[in-house]
Amino acid sequence: MADKAVLVTGASGFIASHVVQQLLESGQRVHGTVRSTKNEGKINHLLDMQTRWPGQLTLFEADLLVPGSFDAAMQGCSVVYHLASPFFIENKIRDGQKDVVEPALSGTKHVLDAVGKCDTVELVVLTSSVVAIFGDNADVLQMKNATLSTEYFNTTSTVSHNAYSYSKVLAEKEAWRYHDAQPAPPRWKLVTINPGMVLGPSLSPTSESGSLSLMHQLLRGELFLGVPDLWFSIADVREVATAHLQAASNPDAHGRYIIAHKQTYGFVELARILRSLTKSSRIPKNTLPHLVVSLSGPFIGLSRKWLSLNQGIKFNLDNGPSLSELGTVYRPLEETLADHLESWKAQQSSR
Ligand SMILES: NC(=O)c1ccc[n+]([C@@H]2O[C@H](COP(=O)([O-])OP(=O)(O)OC[C@H]3O[C@@H](n4cnc5c(N)ncnc54)[C@H](OP(=O)(O)O)[C@@H]3O)[C@@H](O)[C@H]2O)c1
Repeated sequence: MADKAVLVTGASGFIASHVVQQLLESGQRVHGTVRSTKNEGKINHLLDMQTRWPGQLTLFEADLLVPGSFDAAMQGCSVVYHLASPFFIENKIRDGQKDVVEPALSGTKHVLDAVGKCDTVELVVLTSSVVAIFGDNADVLQMKNATLSTEYFNTTSTVSHNAYSYSKVLAEKEAWRYHDAQPAPPRWKLVTINPGMVLGPSLSPTSESGSLSLMHQLLRGELFLGVPDLWFSIADVREVATAHLQAASNPDAHGRYIIAHKQTYGFVELARILRSLTKSSRIPKNTLPHLVVSLSGPFIGLSRKWLSLNQGIKFNLDNGPSLSELGTVYRPLEETLADHLESWKAQQSSR
């Protein structure tokens, strides 16, 4: 596969920018899709990469909602890394169908329709998510040993409850359906990368990724009264990007890979680490009582049902296959947050 180019969809995004950079560093030729090649504010860092690695990165325009949009960019590619998909946190979603479900699902179909027509493609690495495996944290308590593992799919999310999670499970299932519908022997293999909440330094100056916006609220001091008792599975963006490349370079990689630390972290723990790094008293060190959050939740877009299924619920994750098959090495959370903070500060001062 080495002499052929590879395709990265949504190349300007938070995670995809690291995937593109690591691919260029490893000497590969990359086709990257962005919504507009004229939007310099969004793609400046990719233009810098074109200068740094001359002749290795070609940009194409493609939109998830437009059939045939990815055909040209895929020509001559052996691997398709499909990352483009909108990610907004639950209380920022107004219309679940339009904001997340439609682009995620039609985008996956359009990308895989293009794969079906493009004989050079041998592998699709799809960026799914842990939320394609569970919807609410309470779901994981029903799994074997109350541990998240790739044998499950999210069955509880809907367009009006965890719409983003719903978009991810629909898109991933659709991808497996396309894969399994190939005549035997299948021409292309599918591997999914299912990361937890992705944090760490951002190369992408304008990404509105849900994980970045949540940290932005915390770092700007908007949550100074305290954080809800929420627990997140977490991964560093550099490890997530490397896992994508490993999924392609290891011929034995197969199926789905959870990329996240093996336990969840409390929101308050993230806040405390960032508070000690910034010395800012606007970053809280305490958790808000459940009752207070439950009463105020509906005013900030979090339903009582959502809060009751998520507040105070931690769980473990089976990230074993990422360790043994992809060679993922998880750096300490403190390092991820310190680098996240440095990159956030640099981006704030350049605005
Ligand atoms: N961040 C996380 O915590 C996390 C965790 C697990 C999985 N993921 C998954 O990782 C992938 C990348 O997410 P991210 O965190 O890097 O978010 P991001 O920075 O917002 O990247 C999303 C990308 O999707 C593109 N996109 C959105 N709507 C599009 C459309 N209609 N047509 C074409 N492109 C469109 C965006 O392009 P524009 O720049 O033009 O908007 C952007 O490049 C997504 O599939 C997400 O579900 C993220």
